[in-house]
Amino acid sequence: MAGINKAACIGGGVIGGGWIARFLLAGIDVNVFDPHPEAGRIVGEVIANAEKAYAMLTGAPLPPRGRLNFCKTLEEAVADADWIQESVPERLDLKRGVLTEIDAAARPNALIGSSTSGLLPSDLQRDMTHPERLFVAHPYNPVYLLPLVEIVGGERTSAATIRAAMDSLPPIGMKGVHIAKEIEAFVGDRLLEALWREALWLIHDDICTVETLDDVIRYSFGLRWAQMGLFQTYRIAGGEAGMRHFLAQFGPCLAWPWTKLTDVVDLDEALIEKIGRQSDEQAAGLSIRELERIRDENLVGILQALKGGHAGKGWGAGKLLKDFEQSLWAQGGRATVSFDPSKPLRLVETKVSPAWVDYNGHMTEHRYLQVFGDTSDALLRLIGVDLAYVEAGQSYYTVETHIRHLGEAKLGQAIHSTCQILSVDEKRLHVFHTLYGTATGEALATAEHMLLHVDTKAGKAIPAPAAVYDKAKVIAQAHATLTVPEGVGRHVGQKR
Ligand SMILES: NC(=O)c1ccc[n+]([C@@H]2O[C@H](COP(=O)([O-])OP(=O)(O)OC[C@H]3O[C@@H](n4cnc5c(N)ncnc54)[C@H](O)[C@@H]3O)[C@@H](O)[C@H]2O)c1
Repeated sequence: MAGINKAACIGGGVIGGGWIARFLLAGIDVNVFDPHPEAGRIVGEVIANAEKAYAMLTGAPLPPRGRLNFCKTLEEAVADADWIQESVPERLDLKRGVLTEIDAAARPNALIGSSTSGLLPSDLQRDMTHPERLFVAHPYNPVYLLPLVEIVGGERTSAATIRAAMDSLPPIGMKGVHIAKEIEAFVGDRLLEALWREALWLIHDDICTVETLDDVIRYSFGLRWAQMGLFQTYRIAGGEAGMRHFLAQFGPCLAWPWTKLTDVVDLDEALIEKIGRQSDEQAAGLSIRELERIRDENLVGILQALKGGHAGKGWGAGKLLKDFEQSLWAQGGRATVSFDPSKPLRLVETKVSPAWVDYNGHMTEHRYLQVFGDTSDALLRLIGVDLAYVEAGQSYYTVETHIRHLGEAKLGQAIHSTCQILSVDEKRLHVFHTLYGTATGEALATAEHMLLHVDTKAGKAIPAPAAVYDKAKVIAQAHATLTVPEGVGRHVGQKR
């Protein structure tokens, strides 16, 4: 199975909520079971954060959001799910009990992932009747933005389960890494705990404060890690001689008295208080919710930067995002709008997201161009200029744009855009877009564009093939009967 149709999330806290959002935004229906009286509110807040983050993350057409269904019992939640994700608190006895219940109620071929941060899958699957379908699927917070999932099988997990789990993740924008052997805490938490242990000593011994320690990470190797990890970074640090030279030069340092990694600091009251106080100072009054928002905005920025890395091919997590977006375009590009010849085409429906507004609470200037660009893209997909077409070497390039700002699009406002084709010939496509406030019907902005059909490799205009040109002509002929929109042909500074 390489695609999840229905997911069930057992436990909807920090991590379960993140999984729920990840599935829903990928268009997958999710059943949830969590006996916490406020589970609905908590999950709702995570979904709202995730939606804000996705609005900033991608302009690709997300599928219609999946349906969220809170179930009264675990049995009801898992009965028709093909991926079941357990995210209950980190206690072996509790998890074993929950997994046994899942095992009894789930379809025999359902995949069952556990979010555990460190328990062994062999221990988790001990009491299961079908242990072959249980694996660890260890994600990172926030699950809706960070793509990694460590996939770890136990002694009785089948190879087919591991393969199916790995194959199911890219369609929801995630990357599975298969950990070859099960060990407590797997790979990510092993590394984090080693670093954390050393960090606690540095605070304990008054070498630095928590803020200094975080600065050391985030102004230096934290930036390197996000894009190349540890070993590839060290390969470069070894100079032209690469990794072998690096190991020869710095390997002996490991024997120097630099680390205390084998000793565990005593997290006594005094140390907890010291770290708590320093952490409060560092937060400087920002709430956890505010910090979460800042974190999400920064992660989006990093992912987008990585998407443009490696000469635009995408790098690391940015390459994954690029691939995910391409699959969304490929699916979204197939969608058509119903063509009513008596009106301009209604092509983009969206909301003004928090990332689009400036300090006034109004949509910032370049976002108007973005929405108008999305409108042109939607028109192009309609006439057959989709991702496959562009990859095959032909496209339309915008060569001229004139935008007028008539009103203000405000934070959260529902907006939509329309397109009227003014004229088309073999090479040129002349369009006029209007952006409306959906509730009031008020025109907020207009854009007039000239697009040229090009051979992208040769970098020159060429006639569009008949298949494309004919479709554009049908729309243009219908639009020729509409009133020419006010504002067509205006130049900057012209009196109204
Ligand atoms: N927090 C993290 O950063 C992180 C990261 C990766 C993995 N994990 C793992 O994810 C799991 C969940 O951690 P969390 O941080 O989301 O905890 P959490 O306390 O935020 O959420 C746990 C949820 O499980 C619910 N729950 C308790 N018993 C249940 C039951 N019998 N059936 C259904 N729901 C039940 C609780 O009501 C709660 O909403 C743990 O195994 C943890 O190790 C956590």
